[in-house]
Amino acid sequence: MTQDSVNIQPPLHPLAIDASSDETLRGDPIDGERYYSSDFMRREWDHMWTKVWHIAGLVNQLQSAGDYIVHDFMHESVMVVKQADGSLRAFYNVCGHRGQRLVWGDGQQETFHCQYHGWEWRNDGVLNAVPDQDDFPQGNPCGELTLVELPVDTWAGFVWYAFDSNAPLLTEYLHPWPDIYKNHATEEMTRIVWMQVELETNWKFAPDNFSESYHTRTAHPQVPAHRDMDYWTSRQELYPNGHNRILQLWRPSLRDRVPEGTPNRFDNKLRAWGIDPDQYPDFETKVTQGWRDVAAAQRSLGPSKGYHHYLRLTEDDFLFSPHDQLFPNVSLDIRPDAVSMFRTEPHPTDPNKCTFDLWCLAMPIQGLEEVMCIAGKRPLEIADFDHRNFDGGRGLRDLAGSVIFQDMALAEGQQRGQRSRGYQEPYLAGQETRVRAWHETLNDYLEGRR
Ligand code: FES
Ligand SMILES: [Fe+2]
Repeated sequence: MTQDSVNIQPPLHPLAIDASSDETLRGDPIDGERYYSSDFMRREWDHMWTKVWHIAGLVNQLQSAGDYIVHDFMHESVMVVKQADGSLRAFYNVCGHRGQRLVWGDGQQETFHCQYHGWEWRNDGVLNAVPDQDDFPQGNPCGELTLVELPVDTWAGFVWYAFDSNAPLLTEYLHPWPDIYKNHATEEMTRIVWMQVELETNWKFAPDNFSESYHTRTAHPQVPAHRDMDYWTSRQELYPNGHNRILQLWRPSLRDRVPEGTPNRFDNKLRAWGIDPDQYPDFETKVTQGWRDVAAAQRSLGPSKGYHHYLRLTEDDFLFSPHDQLFPNVSLDIRPDAVSMFRTEPHPTDPNKCTFDLWCLAMPIQGLEEVMCIAGKRPLEIADFDHRNFDGGRGLRDLAGSVIFQDMALAEGQQRGQRSRGYQEPYLAGQETRVRAWHETLNDYLEGRR
């Protein structure tokens, strides 16, 4: 980072470690085997997935008592149920009689009625009724047996659970994310894209990919014209819990100027906030001054246009574009009006496959019916679940040309290369330091250091 860009970045969180070079890392190799070995996959389940927090869904899916969401993770299934007192409880989706799965998808009910022998569980997990209750020599189980419970909590509008009853508190696990994003009312947002895509690649493709922006200029050539991905203007941060973040300037890169008169997103953004892009004497001034002018206009005009949540945000929230990789598998872009969540989860048995979740959340604004998100222009309304198979791109034709399509299109090719005998230890750039750091955190889990 140049001295100039250091001076314009917001204050660094005291826990942040500079991730622009690998000086703080051990230098663990990133072997190819971790991307295709079933044994490695089993170790990830035993030592990592059972220790971390997982996202089950959104808080706003659980409105009334008895509402529940189901999250299948590898061979497990967990349900989170809204209680009469408004709290949430999470249970394994497993009948306490002889192990039948209780529910197959999200829903609403007062009690869970097992399809096998008819046991009925209250939504607080306590057994309510069984057929032939006098036929249990060991005693009537009603009121005695309970479903097996897991820790559950919420942050940023997401419902989280952990398999480990001794997991650290969610706030500790995520620390300092709740602190960093305390001004953002993401829990008020609506999920306008709820997509899951089956991909022929190991799940670690996504945390690798989302831990660097080095690929952006090549893989997403449309991006630098509105978001500066240059490593010398960005700030890359590592955190002790294994999470990482990059903070980029929310303005065009100065590296490749958009030719005069070419329609572009930055000019449109200026115009949308009452600023004439042609008032600046040259491209550099437009970028450096227009960037600050539009942030100031958003803050001063936003509340009167219905963007009341802007009152809670700071100027930096408009100037910088953060991208977060929460260990292990949740990537978040948290912006004033929107959140994009990208997540991969392993296939239950095949390390060469995963699911990729794309959720786009948007702040409801009075009178606003459509918004642009990473999946294009979408109605600002609650989306239905949209399940796809990437199928070499055929399953996602409507998103061709988008950043998300471009990333997925690379995923399967990389998986092939990582399985090859020709795969070599990665030769990482400084701006890819977070990739190796991420693997070192994974190794810490697998080797019992976390
Ligand atoms: S397994 Fe559920 S009632 Fe028997
Ligand atoms: Fe990408």
